[in-house]
Amino acid sequence: MVGEQTDTCVDAGTGAPVVILLGPPGAGKGTQARRLEEGHGLVQLSTGDMLRAAVAAGTPAGLAAKSVMEAGGLVSDEIVLAILSDRMAQPDVAAGVILDGFPRTAGQAAALDDMLAAAGQCVGAAISLEVDDEAMIARVAGRFTCGRCGEGYHDQFKQTRQEGVCDKCGGTEFKRRADDNAETARERLKAYHDQTAPLIAHYESMGVLQRVDAMASIEEVAGALGQLVSALSAH
Ligand code: AP5
Repeated sequence: MVGEQTDTCVDAGTGAPVVILLGPPGAGKGTQARRLEEGHGLVQLSTGDMLRAAVAAGTPAGLAAKSVMEAGGLVSDEIVLAILSDRMAQPDVAAGVILDGFPRTAGQAAALDDMLAAAGQCVGAAISLEVDDEAMIARVAGRFTCGRCGEGYHDQFKQTRQEGVCDKCGGTEFKRRADDNAETARERLKAYHDQTAPLIAHYESMGVLQRVDAMASIEEVAGALGQLVSALSAH
């Protein structure tokens, strides 16, 4: 399941790794990033969550991003980089980060390399979650999250233990995303193949690419990712 461990890079002063999760919609980036946050003390940085917060708050960036997200396209590099670099400047990221859904274009990857180089850091691992396209449509279309704590569930693959009650926080309100329908999911998948999948070669050439079979169960994928991140932290 896991590729051979290659040279790794962590912040020289703190040992804090920068981990990228690459994968199409529904690959499990958010699910696994939250597990790594809980288990390894890394901070999950999801550009999708940041953009949805901007949309909900009605900021200028959110207003510009809303229609693009609803259509399944990619928000402009300018907006995404502004939001991400603000977040990367917060002190809590010194613990190490899991980038969930970023970078997604060649421009974003180059900007990230520059941002990290300026801080004396580099990408420790870029983990490609490898999945089957059609299965991804089913995963996305069945997804819902707790409205209180954000824990993710699925109608078929990960139900709440007690119907209508969040396992994690006991919340009883759940949400479904506006872009989680089969038609928009196909557009998001197309954007992934056209603009994001080419980044796999970029990280392979840097010697930091790892591939994980994300068609396996959530627990199995979590185990594989945990091993990779532990190896990085121990480096
Ligand atoms: P974003 O929020 O990043 O969405 P996405 O990449 O489409 O990814 P998803 O959140 O849909 O899937 P995921 O991989 O996190 O899977 P999950 O863990 O939830 O982006 C949304 C939009 O924002 C984009 O379309 C774009 O417009 C914009 N955007 C964001 N970042 C951008 C950027 N950098 N540049 C430009 N635009 C940007 O899992 C899915 C479901 O499957 C869940 O129900 C889960 O329980 C289940 N599941 C997970 N793993 C498994 C498993 N192994 N087996 C069975 N079920 C599983």
